[in-house]
Amino acid sequence: MDKKKIVFSGVQPSGNLHLGNYLGALKNFVSLQKDMECIYCVVDLHAITVFQKPNELKNNILETTACFLASGLDDSKSIIFNQSSVSGHSELAWILNCVSRVGWLNRMTQFKDKAGSDKEKASVGLYIYPNLMAADILLYKATHVPVGADQKQHLELSRDIAQKFNKDFNCKDFFPLPEPLISKNISRVMSLRDGTKKMSKSEESDYSRINLKDNADEIQKKIKKAKSDSDVIPDNLKALEKKPEALNLLNIYSEISHIKLEKVLSEMSGKDYSHLKEKLTDLLIDEICPVGKEIKKLMDDKTHLLKILKKGTEKAKIKAEENLNIIREKVGLV
Ligand code: TYM
Repeated sequence: MDKKKIVFSGVQPSGNLHLGNYLGALKNFVSLQKDMECIYCVVDLHAITVFQKPNELKNNILETTACFLASGLDDSKSIIFNQSSVSGHSELAWILNCVSRVGWLNRMTQFKDKAGSDKEKASVGLYIYPNLMAADILLYKATHVPVGADQKQHLELSRDIAQKFNKDFNCKDFFPLPEPLISKNISRVMSLRDGTKKMSKSEESDYSRINLKDNADEIQKKIKKAKSDSDVIPDNLKALEKKPEALNLLNIYSEISHIKLEKVLSEMSGKDYSHLKEKLTDLLIDEICPVGKEIKKLMDDKTHLLKILKKGTEKAKIKAEENLNIIREKVGLV
């Protein structure tokens, strides 16, 4: 094990996790836990930047933990915990609020998207959310952060904040500059209804996404209804440039089957998209349904899930406190 590499990532407990979270993040979390020190966090403080009903939030924190485990995370290899149970995240976030610049936050495209047209009504938490994300990562001096492409800008900000802290407090290389680990093949799973938008929990239509808890019937219906193309499948990538929905289905197929996109095209070219859809449905049912069943099984024993979070919290707290003591000292807090 390479001790110097520390992996951190987080997922918001804001309802149904979907195929985008699974392919863009969770699968990579699992493959990294084999030979790196990994810390995976259910980021509940991030979720409340948009109002969450308290009872639903509680349930979603446990369900996200269940999604981690059902996707293959092993609590004896990785630290699994929820963010609010380690107060160091909030403390470091405050310190970093004072390092980060308003101008930097004003450039964050996700705030613009999430706040919509009426920014005045967005919570302050939503605006400074990227600083909390930087705190999550830097609290553990993480070096690698597996995320989907939508988090790239936030990761760049985390690097800027780390760099400024190191410079302001005259401690070169104290915080490592965290590297994003973004899957090359499928960094952004797109909506099944609109291939220009990412698959997301917040899109109104459930037909836009495959949820990890969907059953075989739902998966079949959603793929059948997914937007594709009236032409046949082409034999080259260039022909897909203006066909984002078709490209998305092919990309998902390629990722789950482990067959390179070029090879998929050479095998399927000239066929209707219904052929791809049938094969993709079978693959998705085989891949996703066992995960969904496991999530439901794990949710039947919430005490077990709470125990896992508690164990992870204890381990995370030790690391966080150790780093925070040094950070407080560097800032001059007594
Ligand atoms: P969140 O909860 O929106 O998403 C969790 C992870 O899933 C990825 N993802 C996708 N990947 C590919 N295609 C998609 N359609 C798709 N949708 C979501 C996200 O990129 C993410 O990796 N701000 C983060 C959570 C966070 C975090 C952190 C991540 C908080 N602190 C520290 C890393 C490190 C978020 O909202 O992810």
